[in-house]
Amino acid sequence: MLRAALLTASRNRTVRRIVETAPVSRDVVRRFVAGTSVADAVAVTATLAGDGLRISLDHLGEDTTEAGHADATTRAYVTLLQQLAAHELATVAEVSVKLSAVGQALDVSMARDNAATICAAAAEAGTTVTLDMEDHTTTDSTLSTLHELRAEFPWVGAVIQAYLHRSVDDCRELATAGSRVRLCKGAYKEPASVAYQSRLDVDRSYVRCLRVLIEGDGYPMVATHDPRLIAIAEKLIVEAGRAHDSYEFQMLYGIRPKEQQRIASTGARMRVYVPYGDEWYGYLMRRLAERPANVAFFMRALATKG
Ligand code: FDA
Repeated sequence: MLRAALLTASRNRTVRRIVETAPVSRDVVRRFVAGTSVADAVAVTATLAGDGLRISLDHLGEDTTEAGHADATTRAYVTLLQQLAAHELATVAEVSVKLSAVGQALDVSMARDNAATICAAAAEAGTTVTLDMEDHTTTDSTLSTLHELRAEFPWVGAVIQAYLHRSVDDCRELATAGSRVRLCKGAYKEPASVAYQSRLDVDRSYVRCLRVLIEGDGYPMVATHDPRLIAIAEKLIVEAGRAHDSYEFQMLYGIRPKEQQRIASTGARMRVYVPYGDEWYGYLMRRLAERPANVAFFMRALATKG
């Protein structure tokens, strides 16, 4: 119930205005978001890199409805990638891009061209790009853009959401040599016609997808904070005889940092997804929806400071 309400709120303009202007919001947001500027993003990246972690940076923003906004987001990514290279962080830090932030809802070819501009900047900097996955109405379009981009930039990463019924088939198609695939549970409110609704069913689907990716020829990126799924992934990786440089774990900034350190200390690659920028509302609401304790944290902060 709470999860559904928060995910609905994540797309509600009135709730958005209230939360964005609440006096404490920015403090609370800092737990999950690196800051608003490129300098903030670079500083957090340098700290995480110093701790032996890898990073994927997300310039916050989604559901862009104006071409000018899509252009501005594209330019922000290019600037970020130049800054990562200038600070010698591009070997450990890549970027994650939402196609909706670079114009997917306006014109798919515009979004593809903007994503290609970001990929060219990543190639110049010496790093990679992963295309985030959004709600199920965009899955086919995002996967076809991925295939178009991979013709020129074969290292572009895909994201598969285990909660979708289709995902195990998508994993089979994507588990090919050199193919970087992030597997997550899925963060949007989806109907039962396309997505598993219970935690148990989502977790079972996650394990089926994990098996396909880890036993396949690609580069699996295991994105979860779930201790059981991490343990299963570690076991499957050992059974498949995978070397540490042939897969990675991924978690979100601010969530289970000790576990991030533990995984890195095993010699495995551990990448932290670090969002930054002004448009944190949708991202924050999805994080709150994932965990009641996060909502309690937010409410406590509102009660004490608001
Ligand atoms: P879940 O939320 O079920 O949590 C499982 C367990 O993890 C909890 O029971 C608890 O034990 C532990 N845990 C979780 N949060 C904790 C906390 N704050 N403190 C302590 N323990 C905690 N989604 C999407 O739709 N498209 C995308 O492109 C991406 N991209 C993405 C990248 C990366 C790197 C990650 C990690 C995640 C995404 N996601 C995503 C989000 C993803 O789909 C999902 O919503 C969240 O990762 C939460 O799911 P978990 O797998 O962590 O399990």
